Amino acid sequence: LSGRRSLQVGFRLDRSTSVSFSGLAALGDLESSSPSYLVLDSEVARLHGDRIGSALRGAVSGVSVVTASEAMKTFRLVRDLVADLSGSGIRRESWVIAAGGGMVCDAAAFAASIWLRGTRLALVPTTLLAQVDACLGGKTGINLGRAKNQVGTFHPADRIVVDPGFVETLPRREIRSGLGEVLKTAIISGHEGLIRLLRRIPAGGGWSGWAGNASAICLETKAGIVSADPLEEGPRRILNLGHTLGHAIESAGRFSLSHGECVALGCTAASSMAEQLGSGTGLHGQIADLCRELGLPRRLPAGVSPAAVRRFLDRDKKTAGGGRTWILPFAWGDCRQVLLEPREEDILLRYALASLAE
Ligand SMILES: NC(=O)c1ccc[n+]([C@@H]2O[C@H](COP(=O)([O-])OP(=O)(O)OC[C@H]3O[C@@H](n4cnc5c(N)ncnc54)[C@H](O)[C@@H]3O)[C@@H](O)[C@H]2O)c1
Repeated sequence: LSGRRSLQVGFRLDRSTSVSFSGLAALGDLESSSPSYLVLDSEVARLHGDRIGSALRGAVSGVSVVTASEAMKTFRLVRDLVADLSGSGIRRESWVIAAGGGMVCDAAAFAASIWLRGTRLALVPTTLLAQVDACLGGKTGINLGRAKNQVGTFHPADRIVVDPGFVETLPRREIRSGLGEVLKTAIISGHEGLIRLLRRIPAGGGWSGWAGNASAICLETKAGIVSADPLEEGPRRILNLGHTLGHAIESAGRFSLSHGECVALGCTAASSMAEQLGSGTGLHGQIADLCRELGLPRRLPAGVSPAAVRRFLDRDKKTAGGGRTWILPFAWGDCRQVLLEPREEDILLRYALASLAE
């Protein structure tokens, strides 16, 4: 024996993501000597399947079409996807390409991360929410029952292909959902251009120009935060603004409100908590006004009580020993991680949730 009693091995998430904003043509650049596999949202297949097929120039060995819903974001789906990857001869150097909203991207990325311990991954986000947030940052995941994203990995996409034209076919509700995440990024960054964009949303259709601008700003903001803390060990946690409560509202409401709508409610409540702690910047009122202008909800869904939300809160991953760390916005561009003891949290939450239930 050498006498050595321990060994330290450093592992880092040594990957980089290249994001293209120049439309689907960028899919033609995915090169590999191995077959690629496409995971496609069923609505996207119906509305844009031909366009995606011709951008890929037919270079895929298999396609899975997935119906996007939170109820489908399960181990069963991932098991089926992994079986499809196996059956199609997908290797580590193959591309798994996911085209869809956050749901399909999260589940397909999870499958890509565990098949052969990780294949190359390209994401084509097709909802506003996915184009401004979900496609970047490497979080993959599925739900465990009604508990959101409890199982997952970090597996950043090698390529992200943003084509804002996809948002033109989104139902209004899905646009609203994306606006919730744009609002979150605007609060975190305080980016004036993004706040201006939120105050000037298109009156009717014609969202693609707006989405292209929002996506570029939001992804650049997120990239800066994520690359400084890829595994969410510290500063990256501010990206969870609005999510602690948002996930609990989503689950308590049985997903009757979309993810982004719940994030907006979570941001409103978090700003109320910061106000109770003395922020004194008027941010809470400004967020509530903006939510009204954007058509985002300002109240809990019908039939969902503050008590029900709190039951789901207690299942949240971010609960730790003596208290819970909240991301609270004190001003535009000034979000802080605040550890609240259970009693203090109880008082702040009681008030914040009551104002969402009025
Ligand atoms: N990984 C991350 O960092 C991250 C971040 C935020 C959210 N998320 C996850 O993203 C999911 C929500 O994503 P989402 O809001 O994109 O919803 P989604 O993926 O469920 O899609 C919403 C609906 O839009 C449809 N759709 C998708 N593209 C379309 C298009 N171009 N035209 C018409 N319809 C289209 C889908 O079929 C679906 O019915 C949640 O599961 C959330 O947990 C992940």
